[in-house]
Amino acid sequence: MPEIYQQSADQIVEECREVESLGIPGVILFGLPESKDPRGASSLSSQGVVQRAIDAIRKANLKLLVITDVCLCEYTDHGHCGVIEHDHQTNEATVANDATIAILAEQALSHARAGADIVAPSDMMDGRVAAIREKLDEHKFENVAILSYAAKYCSGFYGPFREAAQSAPQFGDRRSYQMDPANSREALKEVALDLEEGADMVMVKPALPYLDVIRAVREKFDVPVGAYNVSGEYAMVKAAVQKGWLDEQRVTLEILTSIQRAGASIILTYHAKQAARWLKHC
Ligand code: PBG
Ligand code: ZN
Repeated sequence: MPEIYQQSADQIVEECREVESLGIPGVILFGLPESKDPRGASSLSSQGVVQRAIDAIRKANLKLLVITDVCLCEYTDHGHCGVIEHDHQTNEATVANDATIAILAEQALSHARAGADIVAPSDMMDGRVAAIREKLDEHKFENVAILSYAAKYCSGFYGPFREAAQSAPQFGDRRSYQMDPANSREALKEVALDLEEGADMVMVKPALPYLDVIRAVREKFDVPVGAYNVSGEYAMVKAAVQKGWLDEQRVTLEILTSIQRAGASIILTYHAKQAARWLKHC
């Protein structure tokens, strides 16, 4: 994606200094490990890429909130958000919900140990918020908050991210755990469940094609609502701008305004640095 780069654990401090100087309140880290395996083992290591990045940011004494994405798809060789189980009779491969949430809880704990402020599970397995909350509390990380990707749709707009993270599923798709784009009531159910399980904040993803969902969640629940303006949404703007078809500043700020107007109190966006620069000069 134009102007978006992978960072190493030491480079990230410079990037974060710039982010902080622009007045952006936080960063979210996604890990791209050196090696991938069926169970995403590298996601749990205290020497993992995310854990080392958090540690470096903490040591630099920045005021940024450090959020981590909790999932397996960037760490598994098959690209699914959970571990795979084969049915003995049919040999059909499915994502094993309960085995996955145990690993996710360990991953969240390792992020908390490294110094994360907020963990953000994006896997969409059932029961993962409760498992993460329990694991964090058990290890005295009551103050680490959970931002759950509660309403995450099975979307074509994740394409550029999957290419960048080499995390496209190697077989099948994510339909068994991500939500059907045609369904809006299910989003409210997922949010209610995640809040019951202990989520402090919830997220809707993607943002633009789901502004109605952001609004519905905002109206029904009294918690901060995040919206993830995903890679494909960013790529559409960038491509049209490159062709000279759209005015980048005008449409980007209009898009971000629409997400806020819909009710988001937190916006995750690849436009963040650029938007912050524009807003500073307004
Ligand atoms: C998966 C994950 C995805 C993104 C972040 N974490 C999507 C997916 O492949 O299901 C997408 C973010 C983006 O498109 O910017 N846990
Ligand atoms: Zn995932």
